[in-house]
Amino acid sequence: MPTGLLGRVVLCLMNQTHSKLTSWGLEYVLVARDAMVLDIGCGGGRTVQRLADMADQGKVFGIDYAETSVAAARPLNPTGIASGQVAIQQATVSQLPSANNTFHLVTAIETHYYWPNHLHDLGEIYRVLRPGGSLLLIAEAFRGQRFDALNGLVMKFLGAGYLTAAEHSKLLEDAGYLGVQVVVDRKRGWLCVSGKKTPEA
Ligand SMILES: C[S@@+](CC[C@H](N)C(=O)[O-])C[C@H]1O[C@@H](n2cnc3c(N)ncnc32)[C@H](O)[C@@H]1O
Repeated sequence: MPTGLLGRVVLCLMNQTHSKLTSWGLEYVLVARDAMVLDIGCGGGRTVQRLADMADQGKVFGIDYAETSVAAARPLNPTGIASGQVAIQQATVSQLPSANNTFHLVTAIETHYYWPNHLHDLGEIYRVLRPGGSLLLIAEAFRGQRFDALNGLVMKFLGAGYLTAAEHSKLLEDAGYLGVQVVVDRKRGWLCVSGKKTPEA
């Protein structure tokens, strides 16, 4: 993530350009009004803002490892932060600053490509999910789609993970998630994958 003014501009643009993709992906999970939600790689903070509107009696946390993202996301969520409904922190997905079994829902939009160790990091998310809680990953770069040639080149240049739909599904299953579902909108080149932590017996 670029820093300084350029970083702010990029984050502001991503708040706009990821909006429809995010709306589409969020249709595949339930966001209860009293839910505890974590948005990983929260970037400019638009998804945190949106989740806070949906979970208006719950709490929404955003984390991002880039200082620039945290600095952009906080001013976008002043009311939620002031009331204690929203908190945004600098942290990595690999070491989440939350207790075991905290969240009903964890979202990650356009971010998992950059995570250092998918299996470990998905396991870390599993740790902070409540039993029966859901993870939702949303992406518009995945291998085997319409814009493959261009995306493949860009992802290689960025040193980012570039997985097929089937590889996404297998990763979540290998990390222990149940009921893994992958939805692909081929026309728009969008993917979302969801899975649940084992519910309490
Ligand atoms: C392409 S941006 C997407 C931002 C936002 N989710 C959106 O949809 O607009 C990716 C974000 O993931 C963050 N990120 C990348 N790797 C991360 C990691 N290991 N832990 C936490 N955040 C990470 C980046 O700093 C960046 O803000």
